[in-house]
Amino acid sequence: MTSTAKPRAGETPAARQKRVWDKSAPSYDKQIAFFEKVWFGGGREWLGERAQGRVLEVAIGTGRNLPHYPPGATVTGIELSPAMLAIARQRAAGLGRDVDLREGDAEHLPSADASFDTVVCALSLCTIPGPAAAIGEMKRVLVPGGRLLLLDHIGSTWPPVYAAQWLLERITVRAAGEYFTRRQLPLVQAAGFDVVETERLKAGTVERIHAVKPPDARR
Ligand SMILES: C[S@@+](CC[C@H](N)C(=O)[O-])C[C@H]1O[C@@H](n2cnc3c(N)ncnc32)[C@H](O)[C@@H]1O
Repeated sequence: MTSTAKPRAGETPAARQKRVWDKSAPSYDKQIAFFEKVWFGGGREWLGERAQGRVLEVAIGTGRNLPHYPPGATVTGIELSPAMLAIARQRAAGLGRDVDLREGDAEHLPSADASFDTVVCALSLCTIPGPAAAIGEMKRVLVPGGRLLLLDHIGSTWPPVYAAQWLLERITVRAAGEYFTRRQLPLVQAAGFDVVETERLKAGTVERIHAVKPPDARR
């Protein structure tokens, strides 16, 4: 799902991701449309049905979830790659939707504590260099009781598929920083979220997570 970009000497993981995704941006929509049909079907609708209020989408990419948010939601999108963000701007304009789109790093969100009712992250914790740090930031910017909604591909429950993913990952991590055997649920639990619902699909390779920041959480 990505172009390749070998690491350069002294380059930070985030700078490399920015380079990978700037390069992938022109072909991303076409590529992901195929995977949405065969692998992630219904996932964007699932996120949109649960999002409410002030919504922050982390690593918004080209904005493919935008058509699914309820009309009353106020949407902010953070994204590392300016080229992906430029396409998200066009998509928002085409939908006639006022979206606050900003360049930023998921591991250092440029947002105040407790400033969103919902945080969404789709198909990105597989490639964000520090997923635990990003989930910690998602919790920080959520209001107590706020919703975390995640969709991603993860390591399969079926050993032959998991083995194939593990092998594929030997190539994709080196080439583009993309992981196929990561799982976000334990990180969400370790960060102190309460899990409301999860769905695991496609031989366990896709997971949807709806969790909440506990009402009494300070950060
Ligand atoms: C597979 S794309 C998914 C895009 C979009 N969320 C979607 O559902 O189509 C992964 C995105 O994560 C972004 N990304 C990777 N690391 C990031 C980081 N540290 N902070 C913000 N965005 C990041 C990439 O630039 C890319 O747009």
